[in-house]
Amino acid sequence: MLETVYVLGGGQTRFGELWDYSLTDLIREALDQAIGNTKILPTDIDTVVIGNMLGGETAEQAHLGTLVSGLLPHHPPALRVEAACASGGLAVHTACALLESGKAETILVVGAEKLTDVSGDFVSRALMHAADAEKDAPSGLTFPGIFALTAAAYMHEYGITRENLSLVSESSHRAAVKNPYAQFRKEIPANVISKSPLVADPLRLLDCSPISDGASAVVLSTRKESPVRIAASSLASDSLSLTDRSSITSFESTREAMNRALKESGLDRNVIDYIELHDCFSIATLIHLEDLGYADAGESIRLFLDRDTEANGSLPINSSGGLKACGHPIGATGVKQVLDCFKQLTGQAPSQVKNAKRALAHNLGGVGATCTIHLLEAL
Ligand code: COA
Repeated sequence: MLETVYVLGGGQTRFGELWDYSLTDLIREALDQAIGNTKILPTDIDTVVIGNMLGGETAEQAHLGTLVSGLLPHHPPALRVEAACASGGLAVHTACALLESGKAETILVVGAEKLTDVSGDFVSRALMHAADAEKDAPSGLTFPGIFALTAAAYMHEYGITRENLSLVSESSHRAAVKNPYAQFRKEIPANVISKSPLVADPLRLLDCSPISDGASAVVLSTRKESPVRIAASSLASDSLSLTDRSSITSFESTREAMNRALKESGLDRNVIDYIELHDCFSIATLIHLEDLGYADAGESIRLFLDRDTEANGSLPINSSGGLKACGHPIGATGVKQVLDCFKQLTGQAPSQVKNAKRALAHNLGGVGATCTIHLLEAL
């Protein structure tokens, strides 16, 4: 019999260019916030799991599990996990497995990344470690370049326009205005997005999630001291390289992770009230909504045209601003998504969805190479 996992609470730093903070400062602040927002004592934490991709490369700091453990008075056992941009989701998944099996009772899950102390070019190259070093990197591709290939194929296949893509980023920026933790808290109209500098055709600056610093943390426990449980925690993988896929306009890992999550929870996708979606690029949002089963292939743009994705719409997504406008400190993102879902289910979100009972956090690593999905349910 598997133990039930509860989300006791969490916290985060602001996301952005945080030059006054080291990686350790970021982790310390998120950890203090998370523990302070629960009723537990630091010594109740019996295990630490941290998700991080590039600590060694961009902050010259590895061995992060032990670093976090050292910030607690009793140095509990700790580990770091890595799955590129899904490192945070993988940290939550790993913690769930330890808790469900009875190996741990209360886990501090941290996600953190410090990217802005090195140049943008350095970060772009380091992020490419998440793709296939033999098949993708030698051609000079970057992640905006890889997603630009998917965007070009998708636009060709389904006939959506440049202006359609801009509606996706416009919606994220509108949502982030209310989020005090967001990197960009200003509305940006679609026509400005369509004219922003070209990064990798057809993707422009304002189609891309930014390069961000930040940390987030949640406390998960088998102690029934919270009204929110994790109803499913799923993980799926695909090939690293797009060149090994039969389609580049749909990601098998999302479809598989969603199937597993629905099976594990016994829930139907239509009972989900809120979604935190991995919108690393505007095109990714459209693809994910189709892979999760909320729109037919080529049809997800209708959800934006009809404003269904707003906090008061029929399918609210990314009321936090998502990766696009809240920011994307790689390892921190997946943990922060679970925190945002928790806030929605406990009435603490800056843009609150009315009567939200179930929420979904979708975290992607690489170009759909890894996907984690967490379903949270208010009891
Ligand atoms: N969204 C909105 N504004 C952004 C932005 C973004 N993604 N990136 C930068 N800006 C803003 C900056 O704040 C800055 O504004 P300012 O002039 O008012 O200070 C301006 O745009 C220029 O910023 P800069 O840092 O010079 O941009 P850049 O050209 O070096 O980087 C990208 C822009 C899009 C290339 C970079 O953010 C990027 O690579 N993003 C993708 C990261 C990624 O691949 N993540 C993994 C996803 S799978």
